[in-house]
Amino acid sequence: MKICYLIGYPVGHSMSPKMHNAAFRELGLKYMYKAVSIEPERLSEFVNINLRRSDVLGANVTVPHKIAVMNEIDDLDPNAAAIGAVNTIVNDGGVLKGYNTDGLGAYKALKEFVGELDDKKVVLIGAGGAARAVSYSIIREVETLTILNRTFERAQVLAEALRGSAWKKVAARARVISAPLDELHLKNELEDADILINSTSVGMHPNVGETPVPGHLLHESMLVFDLVYNPSNTRLLREAKEAGADTLSGVEMLVYQGAEAFRLWTGKKAPVDLMLHVVWRELGT
Ligand code: ATR
Repeated sequence: MKICYLIGYPVGHSMSPKMHNAAFRELGLKYMYKAVSIEPERLSEFVNINLRRSDVLGANVTVPHKIAVMNEIDDLDPNAAAIGAVNTIVNDGGVLKGYNTDGLGAYKALKEFVGELDDKKVVLIGAGGAARAVSYSIIREVETLTILNRTFERAQVLAEALRGSAWKKVAARARVISAPLDELHLKNELEDADILINSTSVGMHPNVGETPVPGHLLHESMLVFDLVYNPSNTRLLREAKEAGADTLSGVEMLVYQGAEAFRLWTGKKAPVDLMLHVVWRELGT
């Protein structure tokens, strides 16, 4: 039996064990996905002793270890280096390499829904780790990316990184704008936006009554993509539907980032439809 770990602190509510174990069973693989709660002080010891064992395929890494774990591994994929965070580790004969599949997960979910992104104006709410992963994955293709964040300086720093040489392989043709997250900027930027993405935790369980964008600013010619997956039908998405907008929940991103990690560990294509089914069932929707 080979093992994949999920390392976080805490990891109790994660959907990933059910999703990956169902996928391993479906493909007849004798692998087990196991969530472990590791305090920050024990991260180094756990990674260096447990992950390098020959029966370990690798790991997913979640909050709060996505940045700290970069100091413990041997090699870093260029995308993960540019994003500045690792959510997937592959153990190749005791050598640990870090990847970031979050951005690709969001990108695939969007492509599946929208198709071409090259004439699209995207408004992204948030400038944290999730925002970095998503923006690096779409910046190659979109026409305009506006980053709105509560702490304006963080939006500016991310916009600068996207415009500059921080991610050398990206020949960014997109116009990148940053602004504070307030009603005036939201109104101006959303008027002609094609896609709104929420990368903040606003609206996440248990604060399900909150939303990062007032409902009256949403309109029918936009797609609203909320990276929050618990609940899958956030207040933002409910109000988007009421405004006639298309909607995409964080469930698709969760599954596509998992599918990419699955491919990195096993070399096989993940059973995405089954994984989507498992997560929707777990969320009770
Ligand atoms: P993650 O890795 O999930 O992106 P993070 O790096 O802590 O987590 O970033 C959280 C993001 O959600 C940030 O953009 C944060 O805004 P600040 O930079 O101002 O902290 C945003 N966020 C969290 N709570 C928020 C709230 N109540 N209103 C608006 N933005 C919020």
